Amino acid sequence: MKSVLLSRFLILLPWVLIVIIMIDIDIKRTIWIPVAGRSSRALQQQQQQQQLQPRVARTGAPRVTQSQNQNQSALPVIYAITPTYTRPVQKAELTRLAQAFRQVARFHWIVVEDSTTRTDLVSRFLARSGVSFTHLHVYTPRRYKRAGMPRATEQRNLALTWLRQHRTKKDPGVVFFADDDNTYSLELFEEMRSTRGVSIWPVGFVGGRAYERPVVSGGKVVGWYTGWRPDRSFATDMAGFAVNLQVILANPRALFKRRGSQPGMQESDFLKQITKVTDLEPKASNCTRVLVWHTRTEKPHLTNEPSHRKDTIVIEV
Ligand SMILES: *[C@@H]1O[C@H](CO)[C@@H](O)[C@H](O)[C@H]1NC(C)=O
Ligand SMILES: *[C@@H]1O[C@H](CO)[C@@H](O)[C@H](O)[C@H]1NC(C)=O
Repeated sequence: MKSVLLSRFLILLPWVLIVIIMIDIDIKRTIWIPVAGRSSRALQQQQQQQQLQPRVARTGAPRVTQSQNQNQSALPVIYAITPTYTRPVQKAELTRLAQAFRQVARFHWIVVEDSTTRTDLVSRFLARSGVSFTHLHVYTPRRYKRAGMPRATEQRNLALTWLRQHRTKKDPGVVFFADDDNTYSLELFEEMRSTRGVSIWPVGFVGGRAYERPVVSGGKVVGWYTGWRPDRSFATDMAGFAVNLQVILANPRALFKRRGSQPGMQESDFLKQITKVTDLEPKASNCTRVLVWHTRTEKPHLTNEPSHRKDTIVIEV
């Protein structure tokens, strides 16, 4: 009797175990499926991240700077003012700028054409640039278009007027004069973002030297390293400083001067209206790093360019 019971028990035992295992698997599956369904978005993100990781490693991901981790809508907007005019290299120059600018958070590009209208080339270019922009134009009177005259005065002043009309005390911002013949490091924009009054830094390939820089001691500007007119109050280039938007708004009459201003003196004449050398905020590691270069694109050789169109189609260059 005992042996009969034992044999039945031994026959049933594997079946019982199999059933228990089956139930267990089934429970796991029924739990897993709805979870996967509900969190499919999180899962996709996870998969995307996994897909991204090898690519990131291959290409060398940009270093995530502190500002990229911060709440971006709390950052002051950088307003870059770029005067520009029609010439063979215009689109190439603007392309180089846009490719840097579209990587900068909270950035607004004010492009001012020296033209009687907004040209189709620049309009189309800006629409596709991927950068937030305002497109203005003002024609420089012919009498000012001579050698020995400062350039782009009317264009920069129009941009300042636009800012004064369209921005208020409530708008945190930093204003920067970004000429179209320079090369800009992305780090420069992170440096200038914290400008409280007027900030300043070195510029490459200006003043007749490899670089020009403010000489800094104890965190203050005490002089200028330059190869040209060291007697300038502010021996800096247009690309060498930024101004807090509130300083622009608080000094409504500060403009670039046409009268009495010589080429190369515009920066100094403008800065004199809004700040003092002792108040300047040195950036780029106390003005020891070059983050912007006055590269200028070589004038292309177009001696074989026909005076009348010879190609069968019209191509924008
Ligand atoms: C970011 O900052 C802005 C302004 O300070 C605030 O309105 C917004 O709620 C913040 N967003 C987040 C996600 O913290
Ligand atoms: C700049 O110089 C000042 C004074 O010497 C110093 O306190 C500060 O840390 C320096 N800043 C940088 C970014 O090197």
